[in-house]
Amino acid sequence: MTRKLFVTTALPYANAPFHIGHMMEYIQADIWVRFQRLIGHEVNFVCADDAHGAPIMIAAEKAGKTPQAFVAEIAAGRKPYLDGFHIAFDNWHSTDAPENHALAQDIYRALRDNDLVATRTIEQFFDPLKNMFLPDRYIKGECPKCGTKDQYGDNCENCGAVYAPTELKNPYSALSGAVPVLKSSEHFFFKLSDARCVEFLEAWTQDGKLQPEVANKVKEWFVKGNDGDDSKPGGLADWDISRDAPYFGIQIPDAPGKYFYVWLDAPVGYLASLKHLLDQRGVDFDAYLADPELEQIHFIGKDIVTFHTLFWPAMLKFSGRKVPDRIFVHGFITVSGEKMSKSRGTGISPLRYLEIGLNPEWLRYYIAAKLNSHVEDIDFNAEDFVARINADLVGKYINIASRAAGFLNKRFAGHLSADIGVEGRVLLDALRAHQGTVAQLYEEREFGKVLREIMALADRVNGYVDQHKPWELAKQAGQDTVLHDVCSVCIEAFRLLTIYLKPVLPALAAQVEAFLHVEPLVFADASRAIGGHKIGEYKHLMQRIDPKAMDALFEPPAAPAVLPGGEALAPEIGIDDFAKIDLRIAKIVEAKRVDGSSKLLQLTLDVGEGRLRNVFSGIQSAYAPEDLVGKLTVVVANLAPRKMKFGLSEGMVLAASHADEKAQPGLYVLEPWPGATPGLRVR
Ligand code: 2FM
Ligand code: ZN
Repeated sequence: MTRKLFVTTALPYANAPFHIGHMMEYIQADIWVRFQRLIGHEVNFVCADDAHGAPIMIAAEKAGKTPQAFVAEIAAGRKPYLDGFHIAFDNWHSTDAPENHALAQDIYRALRDNDLVATRTIEQFFDPLKNMFLPDRYIKGECPKCGTKDQYGDNCENCGAVYAPTELKNPYSALSGAVPVLKSSEHFFFKLSDARCVEFLEAWTQDGKLQPEVANKVKEWFVKGNDGDDSKPGGLADWDISRDAPYFGIQIPDAPGKYFYVWLDAPVGYLASLKHLLDQRGVDFDAYLADPELEQIHFIGKDIVTFHTLFWPAMLKFSGRKVPDRIFVHGFITVSGEKMSKSRGTGISPLRYLEIGLNPEWLRYYIAAKLNSHVEDIDFNAEDFVARINADLVGKYINIASRAAGFLNKRFAGHLSADIGVEGRVLLDALRAHQGTVAQLYEEREFGKVLREIMALADRVNGYVDQHKPWELAKQAGQDTVLHDVCSVCIEAFRLLTIYLKPVLPALAAQVEAFLHVEPLVFADASRAIGGHKIGEYKHLMQRIDPKAMDALFEPPAAPAVLPGGEALAPEIGIDDFAKIDLRIAKIVEAKRVDGSSKLLQLTLDVGEGRLRNVFSGIQSAYAPEDLVGKLTVVVANLAPRKMKFGLSEGMVLAASHADEKAQPGLYVLEPWPGATPGLRVR
């Protein structure tokens, strides 16, 4: 029976290019999807940019762009990554697209009609320096569950706990460093604590849709009192789904000035992307989703399990929609053992990988070799990477073709022998007999196991080649038939292995198909034999990795130039890096010495914000405070506030100096030409 699959990967925030963590998830899902297609199932595989939320709004503002323009720029940069690594999404959309606005509002109205939305006036953190309600992500502090420091206000990256920002211990504003104060505002809540939700979710999360380790973890959330309220039947707290203007998001119907919290409309983006795709094809979206045979599957990382196992299924269920069938959770990827940061990524950039000419399928193969069906972290290790590609992929698999094709072309006009001997048939039958296991392992996302299995088959084929030594047969008189059979067996074995590897290596498989003169291979082709068939000219299919290429992947860009002053030029940056630094004209309103410091001056600056900033600057040796007052200068205005012994410093004044200030004294504060006014951006 043909399965109908609707598959997604998590929607990436539209505030940064992809890092290797994204590529790992896409590769995992893409392999699974390709496998399903190769065994004849129908798949719609979609993703989208997660466009909304305060961080994106703030980043856009800092970049001097509208949020729409900001996310559009990020979206425009997605293609080279997706095409580059052969990720075959059927559609890439945006959560800011009209389909998503409509769907999110529909879902909300249905929940409201179902009496699952409540309003409550809550106290929320407000930044007294910035004069605004602080978005969750801009309040940091210690996780109320596990105590990890510097966690964001919505959920903990360490233990996965979800909480309100007011539950954080020792909170501070990440925008200004100020201690936030509480202020009231009316919020909308999805009543997850409602008995209907609890009952539904308890069953849904424990009926085999989740990996066992995920189901076990989720179970803990239902323990009465988990949310700190012993009077409720389950441990689920209501979920705050609204945010106050200004917010980049979707308006809540009948609630002016209120927007959906980004995590409400983000997963709806799965449906919006699918709808956009089906609309284009003229397929009825509602009918497609209503099909009881349809399987809805989400690939996600372990950090966003709560959203996908509680909020999302409940939103779907109680708005009368199809609920997810499976949630496939993976771990994180580290690079050389180093943990990746969500915003910064890791030391290796996927684009750089491609730019320096590394083969994208090497990474697909390597990542696949490391993956299994569990929520385990994997590590990218350069030596291991080179070894696996060179020894296994090229050494075991590619070699089979290169050892046999030349003889076939030169001696037998490219024809495979129509009737190979018994021994060859036994070998090929053994390879074919593994088709079921291979398919099952792909289905179960046991990609590491499936590649080990396939490489073990390649070992058997190489054993057969070593035993029959075609290069010797070719020199012996009267051995033509044997040589023909041995080489034909090799090519047929190579074709079978290519079928098995095709979900992982789609571009290579296409090259093999061209070389073998066969139609695009599918799994069913493994049971067919192609005796008598004429193959094409063998062209080199895949190189070994030169280990030196790996240095280029990690190496900092070209050696820095040294200026006459003796200080090396910092590594090259792009305009985007520069744009991150927000330089502003500031007026020095007040300047004074700092008690207990021989270096610092305390400056009060007007940066045109309608408030004054306090900045400590190490320029005491060069300037008398009274000479500075009333002057204009340039300040790094978006530098994270720094707590110093003498107080909070909210920016940095620019000054020129020698690298070794002791050997070559001299400190020169920058001053703009006449006409500049406080707050102007320097660019
Ligand atoms: O964690 C993240 O990167 C989110 N942007 C994932 C959203 S997944 C889905 F719900 F949209
Ligand atoms: Zn925690």
